[in-house]
Amino acid sequence: MFMNLAHRGASEYAPENTLASFYKGIEMGANGIETDLKITKDGVIILFHDNELNRTTNGTGLPSDYTWEELQQLDAGGWYSPLYAGERLVSFEQFLHYFGRKSVLFALELKDKFIEEQSLYYIEKYGVREQVTVTSFSYDNLRAVRAKDATIKMGHLIRHIDLSSIEQVKEINCQQICPATEFITAEGVALAKAHGLEVRAWGAFSEALMHKALSCGVDGMTINFPDKLSMALASK
Ligand code: G3P
Ligand code: CA
Repeated sequence: MFMNLAHRGASEYAPENTLASFYKGIEMGANGIETDLKITKDGVIILFHDNELNRTTNGTGLPSDYTWEELQQLDAGGWYSPLYAGERLVSFEQFLHYFGRKSVLFALELKDKFIEEQSLYYIEKYGVREQVTVTSFSYDNLRAVRAKDATIKMGHLIRHIDLSSIEQVKEINCQQICPATEFITAEGVALAKAHGLEVRAWGAFSEALMHKALSCGVDGMTINFPDKLSMALASK
C-alpha cells in the first residue's frame, strides 16, 4: 500500500509534532505519521523538529538545555493559531501510548546522535517494530542503529538518487531510500527499485511536487496535507 505519511502530523492544518497534528493526519487519510526524535537534558526522547524551541513554542533555546518537566510547561500550539493554544510537546513514549496500538506506520527521524538505543527500547516496549521505519539524514546515525539492530527497517534521507547513494544504503542494509522530491526522477526511482529498495520521497511541499513524486513512481512520501494526497491516490 502507498505510504501516505503525515509529515510532523498534518502540519498544514495543525501545529506540527503535537497530538492534534498527529490525530488530524490520521483523520485526513494518512496511513502513517512522520515525526522527529530528539533528547532532553534529562534524557527523555521528545518529538521536535527545529534546533531551537523559538519557532514552534513559547520557549527559547535548545530543547536539550531543559528537562522534560520544564518542556511540558511550554505552549506548542499558540504560535500556529489561538485555536491550538495549550497544545503541549509530546514525548516519544506518550506518542507510542496514544498511537502504538493503531494500525499506522511510523517514520521516525533521528535528529540527535546517540538516541538509537533508547528509541529502539521504546519501539520494542510498545511492540511497534513492524510499523516502524527509522530514518535519518545522518549515515552515522543509521549505522549506529544497524549496529544495535540487524533487521529493523531503515530509510536514508538524501537529496538525489544515484548509484553511489544506493550502494551506501545497501552497505548498512537500509531497506528504503528517501530522496528530496525536488530532485526525483523516474529513472532514479526505477534504479533504486531495481536494487531492491523502497523509495519514499520527502519535501513535497506543494501539490505540484506531490504530483511529481507520484508520477515518478515512488512508494510513499511525507506530506503536510495528507488529505490532498489521499484524494490524488483515490483518483488514480
Ligand atoms: O521525511 C523526512 C523529512 O521530514 C525531512 O525533513 O526537515 O522535515 O525533518 P525535515
Ligand atoms: Ca523529519
